[in-house]
Amino acid sequence: MPPSAKKNLNSCAVRFVPSELQARFPAGTPLLTAIHKSGLVISTLCGGAGICGKCLIRLLQGELAITAADQEALSASQLTQGFRLACTAVLQHDCVVEIPNDKTGTAAEILTRGLGRTVSPNLPL
Ligand code: FES
Repeated sequence: MPPSAKKNLNSCAVRFVPSELQARFPAGTPLLTAIHKSGLVISTLCGGAGICGKCLIRLLQGELAITAADQEALSASQLTQGFRLACTAVLQHDCVVEIPNDKTGTAAEILTRGLGRTVSPNLPL
């Protein structure tokens, strides 16, 4: 059953698109926490201060209240289209959330192999 806009006092069902991951979170959970707990990765360059706009998501179904940071960072057209800043959004209703800049699977990796060249240190004595 798809999540609806119905308010649930105890928990909120969230489906993330395009990953199609679904989970329930207590009402009042920050959306960014829900994203991270779902194993998804989203850019948060300003550390969730509501400044960089890199955590942009789009509400496809349900409700996410428009925050002061949303109003500061986004145009009226973007707000109407459902765009929100994930770092300031708080879950209060069931919803479907698109993460346009999903960085899942692109986390930094430590390279242990590759095409390299041998370099001999030539340290001054
Ligand atoms: S993390 Fe920078 S605006 Fe949300």
